[in-house]
Amino acid sequence: MARDDYCGPDGLESREVDTPSPGAGEVLVRVRAAGVDQGAWHALTGLPYLGRLYFGVRRPRAKVVGMDVAGVVESVGAGVTTLRPGDEVFGICDAAFAEHAVGKAKTLLHKPANVTFEQAAAVAVSACTALTALRGVIAGQRVLVIGAGGGVGSFAVQLATAFGAAVTGVCSTSKVEFVRSLGAVATIDYTKEPLTGEYDMVLDIAGHRPIPALRALLTPRGTLVAIGTEDGGRWAAGVDRNLAMKTRNPFTRQTLRAPLSIVRPAELEELSALLADGKLTPAVDRTFALGDLPAAITYLRDGRVKGKVVVIPQT
Ligand SMILES: NC(=O)c1ccc[n+]([C@@H]2O[C@H](COP(=O)([O-])OP(=O)(O)OC[C@H]3O[C@@H](n4cnc5c(N)ncnc54)[C@H](OP(=O)(O)O)[C@@H]3O)[C@@H](O)[C@H]2O)c1
Repeated sequence: MARDDYCGPDGLESREVDTPSPGAGEVLVRVRAAGVDQGAWHALTGLPYLGRLYFGVRRPRAKVVGMDVAGVVESVGAGVTTLRPGDEVFGICDAAFAEHAVGKAKTLLHKPANVTFEQAAAVAVSACTALTALRGVIAGQRVLVIGAGGGVGSFAVQLATAFGAAVTGVCSTSKVEFVRSLGAVATIDYTKEPLTGEYDMVLDIAGHRPIPALRALLTPRGTLVAIGTEDGGRWAAGVDRNLAMKTRNPFTRQTLRAPLSIVRPAELEELSALLADGKLTPAVDRTFALGDLPAAITYLRDGRVKGKVVVIPQT
């Protein structure tokens, strides 16, 4: 599924593209499933505009978007010793919304056998973001996850629970049961009740709530982690709030963090072990055919997804 210019989901076209070749340290993967997340919409539309510094200022550098992948190795580039043709892998790559994609060998790991391709394709970006956000959480702590029913949130609830924390998940009415099923000991339906309680960590994955309101939910030495928002405007989307947090952090006993998640090999390894142990199960709400990628992105943008959506090539 490709495009030539920034566009909405309906601007994507199903067309033939050249099969990429793996360079040194890279791997060619036959895509069995690709994860869809908010980042795919940002790359597609070039919104917020600040993101075009990365995606391409006048035109997008990439005709095909998508990062999260699971599939089978077809060939490897020079110097790759960890993978070989036929290996089943998951991780990140360039241009995942296609039949073939190339990724760096260091960010493609063997897929645990107990996890399907669809589940594995949902992991890398969202689960690494959740893991990065939760750094420092220890058993017995109380963690509030705002946006608990979404892609990052569904992993954050499971991971914090696996680390021994007591999780309260914030979500809308239709996702309450789902968030409970992920391990949350309590839920707050933000459409019906205010956010209350005192927490060692507040993980804000959604909405654009003011920093003082979030800090009021923390213990005196608690940690506020801001991950993202989709209602921060067309220019910078939440960057203002993240900068304000970084600026205030040195002057408060509470910790204010706004990490930018990068998918690192060590984090993928940690997630892979949790997947293999059954302590983490990707929650895949729906699977779409690759040709229905516009519908998959629209479903995500409409806020209907419980957990993750993935697309699968039909070959
Ligand atoms: N910092 C980073 O490196 C990084 C990495 C990945 C993603 N992100 C960003 O993080 C954000 C979330 O990503 P995602 O993949 O988890 O998105 P997602 O799958 O769309 O999930 C977002 C969730 O937030 C909930 N929500 C929406 N408005 C809310 C509100 N006012 N209060 C509470 N919950 C609300 C939505 O459902 P309900 O309203 O139905 O509960 C939805 O479940 C995005 O903005 C994304 O760009 C940042």
